[in-house]
Amino acid sequence: MGKFKRNLTLVTTLLILLQLCSNVSCITSTLITRNNTIRDGDTLISEEEVFELGFFSPNDSSLRYVGIWYQNIQPQTIVWVANRERPLSDHNGAIKLADDGNLVVVDGKNNTVWSTNVPPKLKNTVAVLLETGDLVLCSDSDRDTRYWESFNNPTDTFLPGMRVRVNPSIGENHAFIPWKSETDPSPGSYSMGIDPFGAIEIVIWEGETRKWRSGPWNSAIFTGVPDMFHFTNYIHGFKLSSPPDPDGSVFLTYVPSNKDDLSRFRIRFDGIVEQLRWNRDARNWTSLQVKPSKECEKYNRCGNYSVCNDSKDFDSSKCSCIYGFEPAYQNQWNKGNFSGGCKRRVSLNCSDKVDGFRVLKGMKVPDFGSVVSLNKSGTCKEVCVRDCSCKAYEVVPGIGCMIWTRDLIDMEHFEHGGNSINIRLAASEIGGMKEKSKFWIIIFSTIGALMVGLCCLCIWILWNFRKRVKDFLRKNREYSVKPTSSMFQVLVGDQVDTPDLPTFSFNSVASATGDFSEENKLGQGGFGTVYKGTFSGGREIAVKRLSGKSKQGLEEFKNEILLIAKLQHRNLVRLLGCCIENDEKILLYEYMPNNSLDHFLFDESKQRNLEWRKRWDIIGGIARGLLYLHRDSRLKIIHRDLKASNILLDKEINPKISDFGMARIFNYRQDQANTIRVVGTYGYMAPEYAMEGRFSEKSDVYSFGVLIMEIVSGRKNISFRGSEHGSLIGYAWHLWSQGKTKELIDPTMMDNRDVSEAIRCIHVGMLCTQDSVIYRPNMGSVLLMLESQTSHLPRPRQPTFHSFLNFGEILEGQNVATVNDITLTTVVGR
Ligand SMILES: *[C@@H]1O[C@H](CO)[C@@H](O)[C@H](O)[C@H]1NC(C)=O
Ligand SMILES: *[C@@H]1O[C@H](CO)[C@@H](O)[C@H](O)[C@H]1NC(C)=O
Ligand SMILES: *[C@@H]1O[C@H](CO)[C@@H](O)[C@H](O)[C@H]1NC(C)=O
Ligand SMILES: *[C@@H]1O[C@H](CO)[C@@H](O)[C@H](O)[C@H]1NC(C)=O
Ligand SMILES: *[C@@H]1O[C@H](CO)[C@@H](O)[C@H](O)[C@H]1NC(C)=O
Ligand SMILES: *[C@@H]1O[C@H](CO)[C@@H](O)[C@H](O)[C@H]1NC(C)=O
Ligand SMILES: *[C@@H]1O[C@H](CO)[C@@H](O)[C@H](O)[C@H]1NC(C)=O
Ligand SMILES: *[C@@H]1O[C@H](CO)[C@@H](O)[C@H](O)[C@H]1NC(C)=O
Ligand SMILES: *[C@@H]1O[C@H](CO)[C@@H](O)[C@H](O)[C@H]1NC(C)=O
Repeated sequence: MGKFKRNLTLVTTLLILLQLCSNVSCITSTLITRNNTIRDGDTLISEEEVFELGFFSPNDSSLRYVGIWYQNIQPQTIVWVANRERPLSDHNGAIKLADDGNLVVVDGKNNTVWSTNVPPKLKNTVAVLLETGDLVLCSDSDRDTRYWESFNNPTDTFLPGMRVRVNPSIGENHAFIPWKSETDPSPGSYSMGIDPFGAIEIVIWEGETRKWRSGPWNSAIFTGVPDMFHFTNYIHGFKLSSPPDPDGSVFLTYVPSNKDDLSRFRIRFDGIVEQLRWNRDARNWTSLQVKPSKECEKYNRCGNYSVCNDSKDFDSSKCSCIYGFEPAYQNQWNKGNFSGGCKRRVSLNCSDKVDGFRVLKGMKVPDFGSVVSLNKSGTCKEVCVRDCSCKAYEVVPGIGCMIWTRDLIDMEHFEHGGNSINIRLAASEIGGMKEKSKFWIIIFSTIGALMVGLCCLCIWILWNFRKRVKDFLRKNREYSVKPTSSMFQVLVGDQVDTPDLPTFSFNSVASATGDFSEENKLGQGGFGTVYKGTFSGGREIAVKRLSGKSKQGLEEFKNEILLIAKLQHRNLVRLLGCCIENDEKILLYEYMPNNSLDHFLFDESKQRNLEWRKRWDIIGGIARGLLYLHRDSRLKIIHRDLKASNILLDKEINPKISDFGMARIFNYRQDQANTIRVVGTYGYMAPEYAMEGRFSEKSDVYSFGVLIMEIVSGRKNISFRGSEHGSLIGYAWHLWSQGKTKELIDPTMMDNRDVSEAIRCIHVGMLCTQDSVIYRPNMGSVLLMLESQTSHLPRPRQPTFHSFLNFGEILEGQNVATVNDITLTTVVGR
């Protein structure tokens, strides 16, 4: 035993010697005690070796500062500075524990230049650098008794795990103060911190003047930064601690979505706040957000009572007075000097019920709102009406009733997201038409109604006449529009550009499907029922009878159908014709004898027939079809409802995507936008789509990722609902992080040779199903990743979102999207 112990000390001594020899000037420790002092050149390293404390000189100046930086990152990235106001001029300084227990920085002559300054007598203190980057002065015997923390005395950097105090009784908390210049750590004139009044928000000041604010916190995001959803999600991002401390404080913290990421917020010397993430591959810092970055984000850019609109192209037109207001100094305003703001056209008359309100939508709400708790005193509007100084009110989701009693300043109009706000205006501005105009309105509407009536009558007469002529023709020329098999030859042949899509009569379609009989029914989709139709010559066609009411006119509808018919790719189901008669809208597609992928994939007996090669081809086929829709076709189509039952299989089990362009036909906007209606299927919907209604190519990529995993595992994503991992994606991550990804592969595929290929597919699937849009690859990269066997794939981020979470619960009180109207497409194939 004794011998063993001696050997052990020998080894330790050797190790220490080795370290000394290899790096003579640099002695590293993990702890500062009374007995060891960190001299200039020595460093203190945190557990897990992420952070390092020691002396540094910014940009090779001769001044010496004590600071904390990331241990393994070049160039040196400083996150905290101790003696930022009193640098040392030589290399004789040291960090040590003073006799009174405080941590101090001393110069060569033993003068204290910086101290933790904890007032009472401390005994037995030690200083530890934690793995979070927090330097802690604590009691040696009880490390949880912390006398002082660098996290409570930050400089310019907000690190994950840091807690920023929010307490109205303390007032504005200018927690972060940047460097004076890029190379001078002394405090600059800017600051970043928290305005705790009203609803909590982050503010950047220059001195005491506001330069930027985040908008009030609505318990999910800062409402003035609606694109925060791109960088965070409901589980990660900013958080406010609850319940409050005994002194009424809460704390704002930041949790990165991937805890392995090194990420930080930093206020730069020029007053700009950046969110940065360390990119391990490129070995540099990637900037995720910069605030303020746009012109309109600058504080009160357009002056009081006016709105800044960043979607406008020209600077001069960005600013506009809100309704009921006009520029206070028209001359200055015309010159582009908006600082004077706007003034009321008609002043308010606060007598009972004389003023009115007008709503502005998609706004960053004005600054200095106060939150009113509504008890029995009435609605938010009533509170505002009663208070003559109230200029505006709004019930902000996630916050509650807010009223504004000061001038309305710093308003911005967002293209997506934002809140509504009700502006108080004089009665004449709103009900101006009340007396005289009422008369005219009545006159005009009566005339209008009469005209509409007349038109309807005319149309009805014409329609009847047309119908009679048609009936007459039909009786005389038997089934003149019934397609013949030769007609199909023409339209199904190799002709690529269909000049005009064949139109079929309703009668011919009805007779081909046996009057849409039950036995010819192939399936029921979100947009209608699909039947099998047999036309003359035995030609089989899939007939989709659309059920949803299109918001479009007939012409527009036909145009869309024509455009969609021109999308032709071997992995897309082909549209062969249509039938539009009266209220009926019917689409005719090529018939797929092998039904849809889910019939094979999730059926125990058929699953075996899908060996790995086949599945691999199916994945590739879907990817190519989707890439065509996203990039190579003439129209950019976002599918929005990609799922196993929408992948049809032809005779040779080649995959063909169906139901594309449906959202287009039904006139949902195709560009990335907040949609009113979310079309999609639980389990396949990307987080931003399911929760905010925002869709893009990347939401299709998410659905594709789910599909890959289902194909490789042979299991449904939703079959994991309520399980420990929440979803197939969660389960895949679990296995991947344990190095057991192989277990996910469908055991009915005995083909062991292709395990690496299958694992590669799962890896790509995980990349596609990452929560954050910006990390998901596009379909072009997905195909590259699938096809190049050698290239290195990036590391996926842990998924936290399961698209079948309880929406009601999550969305409660949050103004993120109107998803009240989610359609649940039933999972039935054809
Ligand atoms: C410091 O050294 C003294 C004697 O040199 C020893 O008694 C004491 O325990 C040491 N303290 C610590 C914290 O290591
Ligand atoms: C830092 O020093 C390098 C050379 O040592 C110089 O090129 C660079 O401009 C300096 N940067 C700043 C911000 O002063
Ligand atoms: C530095 O000052 C402390 C007390 O403040 C004293 O104990 C110590 O001996 C001094 N060290 C030197 C090198 O003068
Ligand atoms: C980081 O590195 C990547 C790849 O080398 C490069 O494209 C990017 O511009 C770099 N970013 C910064 C901020 O330097
Ligand atoms: C902002 O500008 C866009 C583009 O010109 C316009 O469509 C929108 O209505 C404007 N919004 C406001 C509130 O002025
Ligand atoms: C902008 O307008 C305000 C208000 O009229 C005026 O006080 C200020 O001097 C003007 N600034 C410039 C640069 O003209
Ligand atoms: C306010 O409105 C009341 C009722 O319409 C009217 O009698 C009064 O003159 C108005 N006062 C002002 C200052 O306009
Ligand atoms: C309602 O709240 C207001 C302050 O917001 C308070 O003055 C009033 O007494 C409260 N009324 C009741 C019935 O609680
Ligand atoms: C704008 O509103 C603020 C806040 O009420 C006020 O202090 C300032 O004087 C106003 N500015 C102008 C030009 O009216």
